[in-house]
Amino acid sequence: MSEPPSAVLREMRWWDMDAVLELEDELFPEDAWSPGMFWSELAHARGPYATRRYVVADEGGRIVGYAGLAAVGGVADVQTIGVARDHWGGGLGARLLTELLRHATAFESSEVLLEVRVDNTRAQRLYTRFGFEPIGFRKGYYQPGNVDALVMRRDMKETPGETPPAAEPGAAPETGPGRGTGPGTGGTDTDGSAG
Ligand SMILES: CC(C)(COP(=O)(O)OP(=O)(O)OC[C@H]1O[C@@H](n2cnc3c(N)ncnc32)[C@H](O)[C@@H]1OP(=O)(O)O)[C@@H](O)C(=O)NCCC(=O)NCCS
Repeated sequence: MSEPPSAVLREMRWWDMDAVLELEDELFPEDAWSPGMFWSELAHARGPYATRRYVVADEGGRIVGYAGLAAVGGVADVQTIGVARDHWGGGLGARLLTELLRHATAFESSEVLLEVRVDNTRAQRLYTRFGFEPIGFRKGYYQPGNVDALVMRRDMKETPGETPPAAEPGAAPETGPGRGTGPGTGGTDTDGSAG
């Protein structure tokens, strides 16, 4: 009878920032987002013209995961997703991604893009399971390590496998940082076939 409490997914708020930044530094030691990047993202996450949706996984007051989506002009971008190491393999990454895809549907996005380090096979497997397909590379996207990003895309009109129903409302323009150093959406070098 000692089941650990299961994490509740809820909107990320400013008071979550310290815990999120701590997790961010642990999970992305080479290219962690700065506090300013998170603040800027959250500034676009509320109100009728919101273009972002950020969620946290709250387990009895401890933040054990977080994820964010940007949506502009029919295209959504998975900005970030992270799960505390001691929770890896428990399905939380899948729950967070499911939540982002629900919001992409609510934003009426016809496709969802993301960048992932070419050496991050674990995350790539998760994305593949959710119907994301490789469409190209962004050279040196992750700095200062100069690691390439694999760009993956999911067509929201041809909904495969693990897809959820639509959720809350959302809206229109403007995108943001994305993981790595480049802009979140667009400018993809689709010169590779990847895999
Ligand atoms: C990538 C990341 C978010 C995945 O989170 P996660 O919670 O481990 O993801 P899941 O548990 O949903 O799925 C991961 C694996 O665990 C398996 N799994 C899911 N539920 C499971 C369960 N109950 N028991 C055992 N294994 C399980 C999944 O099948 C999956 O296996 P796979 O390797 O065959 O795909 C996490 O590893 C992470 O935070 N990494 C560091 C940050 C990062 O790289 N983020 C992505 C940036 S693009």
